[in-house]
Parts: sequence; C-alpha cells; structure tokens
Amino acid sequence: MKKKFGFLIVVLSIMLALAACGKGESADGDGEKGSNGGNDSKGKTYTVATDSNFKPFEYLNTDTGELEGFDIDLIKEIADRAGFKVEFEQMDFDGLLAGMQGGRYEIGVAGMSITDERKETLDFSDPYYDSGIILMVPTDSDIKSIDDVDGKKIGSRQGSTSESYLNKNTKAQVEAYPEIVTAYMNLAKGKLDGALYDVPNVQYYIAQEGKGKLKTTGDILQGESYGIAFKKGSELVDDTNEALASMIKDGTYAEIYEKYFGEKPADKWLGEE
Ligand code: ARG
Repeated sequence: MKKKFGFLIVVLSIMLALAACGKGESADGDGEKGSNGGNDSKGKTYTVATDSNFKPFEYLNTDTGELEGFDIDLIKEIADRAGFKVEFEQMDFDGLLAGMQGGRYEIGVAGMSITDERKETLDFSDPYYDSGIILMVPTDSDIKSIDDVDGKKIGSRQGSTSESYLNKNTKAQVEAYPEIVTAYMNLAKGKLDGALYDVPNVQYYIAQEGKGKLKTTGDILQGESYGIAFKKGSELVDDTNEALASMIKDGTYAEIYEKYFGEKPADKWLGEE
C-alpha cells in the first residue's frame, strides 16, 4: 500500500513537470518571455556562415576542434550585447557568398570585404577592420610589383576580391583555389610565381610559415574594409552596429584585436578608456 502511494506521487510529479514544460515552451525555464524589447531577434539563434580558412580571422584550432579567430570572438560578443545567439556553419568562401545571396544564412562573418557589387545583394555592418590586398612572392623573385605579373602564374582564392582584381587588372595566369593555403604552398614549392591576397592573411602566413622564403612586394593594391554580412533587409544590422560601437568605445574591441594581432589597433578603433 505504501509502495503504491509512492508510485502515484512519482507519476503525478512527472505529469506536473511535463505540463509546466509545455506551457513555458523552453524547457530550461529561463523566463525570457516578455523581455522582448520590440525586436524579434532577442533570444533567437542565428546561423553564422563562415569559411575557417582565413587566419587570424577564422580558423580551426586543430587541438580542440573549435573555431577561433578575431571574427569569431567579435560576432560572439556582438551577439551577447545585442541579445541574440549564434551558431556557426563552415563552408567555402564562394559557397558562403552564394548561400548568403540566396538568403540561406542570416549572418556571414568571413573577413568579407565590403564592395559595391556585394552591397547589391547583401547588407553590411559598419566596417570593423581596414584591410587591402598585396602581392606575395619568393624572396628571390624578380617580380617587384603588380606591373610585372603579366603572363606569370599568380595564385589566389576563388570568389575573393583578389581573384577579381587579377582578372580585371592584369594579364596574369590566374590560379584560384578553394583554399588560399593551397596557393601559398604551391608558391613555396615554386609551382606559382606569386599570390595575391588580403594583407593581414599574407603577413600572418609569412610570419608563421614563410620567413626567409616568402615576402610581400609592391604597394597595397586597393584598400578594403571588412564588414559583417547580412541577408538583405536583416533587422540585425542596426543592433550589430550599436554593439560594435559600444565595443570600440569600452575597449573590448581593442582587447580582442590584441589577442589575435599581438598589438594595439589603430587609434580609430581605440575607445576613450
Ligand atoms: N577579403 C576577401 C574578400 O572579401 C577575402 C575573404 C576570405 N575570407 C575567408 N574567410 N576565407 O573577398
């Protein structure tokens, strides 16, 4: 008799627990209902498309299997401040562009340069990093600048601003790969005469793997700014810009920057401290 009664209590409490869950819609009971400040994005989870082949902006930590990088920390902090959640999906950069243009992802973070052409199909946040593209050659190369690349084999990345620069402005034999490190490795092996890509990524590669073998040459060919990309018309753009501005102001941007670049950012990215 005593046993039966105990059983009943267990059944009853399970029923009660289930009923509570059903009403509250989220089982973790964080009671976020009603805290919606007039924006549907609050508390929502968005998929962030990224291409993890772009050090130090996004890359896979091979020990932990985790995504790391300046962009990753940046978007996580922005999401925190703006009140939404993010999960990451990795893909090739050109697939990312196509996927975003097709409206498949709300957010794209991939050291993406803001260009007029891309602005036709995507929305961008305010710029968060000033970049540009530069030529990399073996240290003993006779290529001094972009004027010397006609007829030469120059590597780049598919879908990047560097690939289109080469096609539009030079008569180089352009070899564009799905991963930029293929270009870098082929260059180091002597299969290419040069590579054209984003300044910070080229410099990072030279410092990590190419010391004494590879160097940059000539000027920065075009200034580019990176922005976070959004599906056209996304309601996240304003909140993102606000979060970014607050991170610059309170020094959080500078902290993340130092973590990945080992130095302070330029004055315009420094807050008032
Ligand atoms: N900044 C260049 C562009 O927008 C290259 C970006 C590549 N990014 C990446 N995550 N692989 O075209």
